[in-house]
Order: sequence, then C-alpha cells, then structure tokens
Amino acid sequence: MKKLRLGFNVDHVATVRNARGGAHPDPVEAAKRSLAAGVDGITAHLREDRRHIRDADMRRLKIEVPAPLNFEMAATDEMRAIALDIRPHACCLVPEKRTEVTTEGGLDVVGHSAALKPYIARLKDAGIRVSLFIDPDVAQLDAALAVGAPVVELHTGAYAHAEGTPAFASELERLRAAARHADHIGLECHAGHGLTFGNVAAVAKLPELVELNIGHFLVGAAIFDGLEATIGRMRAAMDAARA
Ligand code: PXP
Repeated sequence: MKKLRLGFNVDHVATVRNARGGAHPDPVEAAKRSLAAGVDGITAHLREDRRHIRDADMRRLKIEVPAPLNFEMAATDEMRAIALDIRPHACCLVPEKRTEVTTEGGLDVVGHSAALKPYIARLKDAGIRVSLFIDPDVAQLDAALAVGAPVVELHTGAYAHAEGTPAFASELERLRAAARHADHIGLECHAGHGLTFGNVAAVAKLPELVELNIGHFLVGAAIFDGLEATIGRMRAAMDAARA
C-alpha cells in the first residue's frame, strides 16, 4: 500500500499562544520542527473569529515552512480573498459556526452545490487544490464530484467519538464505504478529526486514503512526550497499519 501522508494541524499551538497574548509558542516554529519528524504537510484553520490561527500565521506558514500548506476555511468571500492572496497548496472548505468548539460536522455540499461550484472554480483557476470536508456519505461524495472538487476529506469525528461504544464498528464501516466510493468516482480521499494513537490504525488501513490531518491530539500529547517524539510515534502507527 502507498505511504499515507500526515498533515499536522497547528491550530492548537496557536490556542496556547493566544492564551497569554504573546508570541510563544509559535505555530510556525512547531510546523518547521514537525517536518523532520515525519510530517508531509501543514494544515491550519483561519477561523472567522481568529480564535487560534491569525492571518499573519497563515502568511508565515506559506512563506517560511517548506511543505505544502492546507488552508482550512469557511466558504466565505473574505476567506477566499485571503486564500487567493496567500496561494496555499490546498484549501479545505469546512462548515463554520461561531459558537462551536471545533468543526462539528461535514460541509453540506448537497444543500449548497449551486454556491459552491463557482466558489471552488475560482480557487481552482488560481491553481489551488480544493478539498471538501464532508461526512462519510455517498450523496455528499457525489455532490463533491459534481461541484468540481478534486479532493474530499472525510470527517472522522463520529468514528472517534464512538470509541468504546457499539457504534464504533459501524462508524468505521461508514468510513470504509465512503473511501471506496470516493476512489471509485475518482476523488482523492483524505480523512481527519479526533484521530489519536488509539484509533488511527483502523483508519490508516483503509487503502483508498491518501492523507490524514491530525492536530489536537498531537499537540496535547506533545506536552508529555515532546513534539518530535509524538509525531514520530504517529508516523510509525500510520506506517505500521499500512505495512
Ligand atoms: N481536518 C479538518 C478539516 C479539521 O477541521 C480538523 C480540526 O480543525 C482536523 C482535520 C484536525 O482535527 P483534530 O484537531 O481533532 O485532530
């Protein structure tokens, strides 16, 4: 099986920094250090309320970090203008509600296809690879293809939250079926949200997946074991699952 790419989401390095209002810890420095430990790309989410990553962070991630940048954003005019200016490798469109703690569900591509199609086209015209963060659902996958997205990222939150419950196996099956369908219709398939050392292997084994994006768990575990060791362990867990 092909090696699975690991995207490191640095949002919560910025969360810790912002708690004190200074410059430390720096998400750009964390991104740079993560590369030597086995990360293939950097993901960051510029939220409308700038609660963690800020505009200047995104610019610095693009300029200073020698790895593909995946700019997560809501599909708003403001964010597209920033993305067109920064020109990241990829934009991942996510739903965003101001009151949510994190991205709680996937984008409703079926319900917003008319608006998404021209929105995505403008980003693609600029050479940006567009992915849509969606629930593992066949209708959403078909809609993603129809609106012209070359990539989807499957939301693994329901799977992660079901750990230890009877729903865990069925959530994994949903991911398996969705990854197969994505591959079948020609979409590149990524996955992410809530992945940990404990639950990553079953997802990493899905052969159609090309990339996992992981953030909160890695930043938390790094407090105990250090960033490089934590990322090295995640890299090893992903590689072992594919061996
Ligand atoms: N992928 C997407 C699209 C996300 O929105 C997030 C959370 O910001 C992640 C991956 C990473 O999730 P987590 O921080 O739970 O690992």
